[in-house]
Amino acid sequence: MIGRLNHVAIVTPDLEAAASVYRDTLGAKVSEATDMPEHGVTTVFVELPNTKIELLVPLGENSPIAKFLEKNPSGGMHHICYEVDDIIAARDKLIAAGARVLGDGEPRIGAHNKPVLFLHPKDFVGTLVEIEQV
Ligand code: CO
Repeated sequence: MIGRLNHVAIVTPDLEAAASVYRDTLGAKVSEATDMPEHGVTTVFVELPNTKIELLVPLGENSPIAKFLEKNPSGGMHHICYEVDDIIAARDKLIAAGARVLGDGEPRIGAHNKPVLFLHPKDFVGTLVEIEQV
């Protein structure tokens, strides 16, 4: 059902320092920082030949990643995102298999303007999983 790895999201307390690690130490192509107020994050995109890394810092009062940073003050891997062809079909199949979909179960428009859903980490090997319809 799942296809390509679309991205890995990493939360950091210091976006410029994190961008520097990927740009200067690891030699990757790194974007400028982009504020995404509707998602409560500021993002730097790291482009790799086969996938992307998204470096995230909280933006605004109700950022969905603020709590993660409280628990992990030096940052860490937040979620992985897999591509699916049909997000509704994927969701229904996952629910039928007993997996928990976060929120109200309806896809939202994600950071790439495509429909996304998040799946409960306890059902996926301790990892928050995002699925994105591409
Ligand atoms: Co994501």
